Order: sequence, then C-alpha cells, then structure tokens
Amino acid sequence: MATEVVQAEVVARGKDSSQLIQVLLELQRRKRWLSEADLMTVSAELDVPLTQVYHIATFYKAFSLVPKGEHTIAVCLGTACQVRNAPRLLDRVIETFGVKPGQTSSDMRFSLETVNCLGCCALGPVMNIDGTYYSKPSTEELERLAAAE
Ligand code: FES
Repeated sequence: MATEVVQAEVVARGKDSSQLIQVLLELQRRKRWLSEADLMTVSAELDVPLTQVYHIATFYKAFSLVPKGEHTIAVCLGTACQVRNAPRLLDRVIETFGVKPGQTSSDMRFSLETVNCLGCCALGPVMNIDGTYYSKPSTEELERLAAAE
C-alpha cells in the first residue's frame, strides 16, 4: 500500500494518536495485512513510538504482519468438533484448498487458520469462510467452495 494511502488514513482520523487501533484496523481491512513500511508510516504520522505500534499490531489477532489471502478459512478443532472428526475435515480442507494451517495459498486466494471454537458446537465439525459457517461440509461442497470466485 502506498505511503500516501497510509498517510491519508491517518489524516482522516485527525492525526490523533488515540486512533492508532482504528487506523491499523482500516489498513488491515483494505490491504489484508500490515507491512513494516505501513507500521513505520503510522508511527511517524501519529507520532507514536514504533515499539508501541508493533505491540498493538502483534497483540491483536485481527492484525497480520504477513500477506493474507483474499478469503480466510477457519476450521474448528475444539473439543466438540474434535470428537466429530474435525481433524479429518482439516485434512480435506488442506487438500482441497491447497493451503496449510497458518499459511496462505500460493495464489493468495485462501488463508487457513484453526480455532478452538466457533460457537456452534452442536453443528460440528464446523468451518467458516469469511464468516459464513459450514457444518459437516461434504467433499463436493468443499470443492465447490474452492472453485468459487
Ligand atoms: S468446538 Fe467447534 S464450534 Fe465449538
């Protein structure tokens, strides 16, 4: 993301250091990750120490310091899903989407993460893609999702 875009976001927030998290959230939303250059620009523009910017950017899971895929897949490995064969679902997701947990596919379409509960344990095993939930997805459904634009 161009430095000008980062600067514009900071200006839109009134160059107010109390808006640090909001600035980072907006940059994360627009770019799907925060580069070192982004953090340095935010630090300079908001006059906040770079260590503090890094602290915030690494503390919250909402922020990523590495490029993320266009879509985020979360597979639940919580206890209720574990006993309903969540590891097998994870294996099928890895195979179908071509991405491993904690990584992004080479075409930058999908990032995969595992979570401890998605809040709908009775539907397990469960996964979601960009916030849409899938209960016990079949192999055909996974293939359809992987092929969708
Ligand atoms: S343990 Fe999987 S949704 Fe709760």
